[in-house]
Amino acid sequence: MKRFPFQLDAEVPLYLAPMAGVSESPFRRLCRRFGADVVVTEFLSAEGIRRENEATISKLRFGPDERPIGVQIFGADAEAMGEAAAFVTDVFAPEFIDINFGCPVKKVVKRNGGSGCLKDLNLVETVIRAVSRNTSLPVTCKIRSGWNEEMRDPVTIALRCQDAGVQVLTLHPRTRTQMYTGSARWEEISAVVQALDIPVLGNGDIKTPHDALRMYRETGCAGVMIARGSFGQPWIFDQTRDLLDGLPMRPTPSVEDRFAVALDHARMAADYEPDRKGAAIEFRKHLGWYVKGLPASADLRKRLHAVNSLGEVEGIFAEYLASRERYGEEAFGSGEEGEPLETAEV
Ligand SMILES: Cc1cc2nc3c(=O)[nH]c(=O)nc-3n(C[C@H](O)[C@H](O)[C@H](O)COP(=O)(O)O)c2cc1C
Repeated sequence: MKRFPFQLDAEVPLYLAPMAGVSESPFRRLCRRFGADVVVTEFLSAEGIRRENEATISKLRFGPDERPIGVQIFGADAEAMGEAAAFVTDVFAPEFIDINFGCPVKKVVKRNGGSGCLKDLNLVETVIRAVSRNTSLPVTCKIRSGWNEEMRDPVTIALRCQDAGVQVLTLHPRTRTQMYTGSARWEEISAVVQALDIPVLGNGDIKTPHDALRMYRETGCAGVMIARGSFGQPWIFDQTRDLLDGLPMRPTPSVEDRFAVALDHARMAADYEPDRKGAAIEFRKHLGWYVKGLPASADLRKRLHAVNSLGEVEGIFAEYLASRERYGEEAFGSGEEGEPLETAEV
């Protein structure tokens, strides 16, 4: 079996993916509680870290209940990446440092950061070696399948990353030019799993616990990383664990329980972010995800998307539950199955 370079309770770990604006401390804690075995911060600029930019440094904060955690950094300047890795190691001491070679956002790739590095595999190696030289922690990385269709070659990219010293590799099998269109090609995950000696995490298009189980079985990946499938349903990790363990899957929480989780999450977000209005505005997207697929939820969603303080949320949920009682659950339908996931363009 391919070994992970840090202590894990699970044989097949389930990761919460790094996601800018989503995988922040409160959501990471929540997902850990709901069975995520490992979490990763959103991607943080090496330049911002090395200059000790306040906004960047604040995103490095995490609590002991989030461990094991990886800090993800990005940048194409090997020296800056090395310095950032040293700083993160000394000051925050996460379980590992993850290098982002997957981000497709224009602002990032313009300077060859994120998936921009995939155009030049010598640069990929240089960056990995610089980070490894400057940290005592395991170094991992997350890649896409290539820059574009012509340069699509996940096995070669992954082998170069392994040669340069990464100890775990995640593949999101789309190219940069695909952004989030088309389907993730899971067969590329299988090919990389077979080619590498280190653990490979599969990522891409897991919307349900059954998808996660299927990815594990079809690709032989050492672990599974879930991003959009966790939106509004952090229990996806516990449910996936049940399936991996061959147990009946625990039920999806009732509407009341779902609201309780959303409120708990909102309280954590309010504690975390001192700017109350800013916290509420930032949190609106999560609220929308928690109520996605609920019957007669258009008005509910509209109201939640307009909150200016997290204190308003409890009352809005209570009114929804009261009107459901008034008009009867039948009129509301069961709403068990959520609508399909939106494709986030990030
Ligand atoms: C809102 C959002 C933010 C993201 N931010 C990051 C990031 O900071 N670092 C990263 O490596 N990938 C990032 N990604 C990509 C995801 O980690 C993941 O690779 C991608 O969404 C595919 O997985 P999924 O189909 O499970 O969503 C982001 C994705 C989304 C939807």
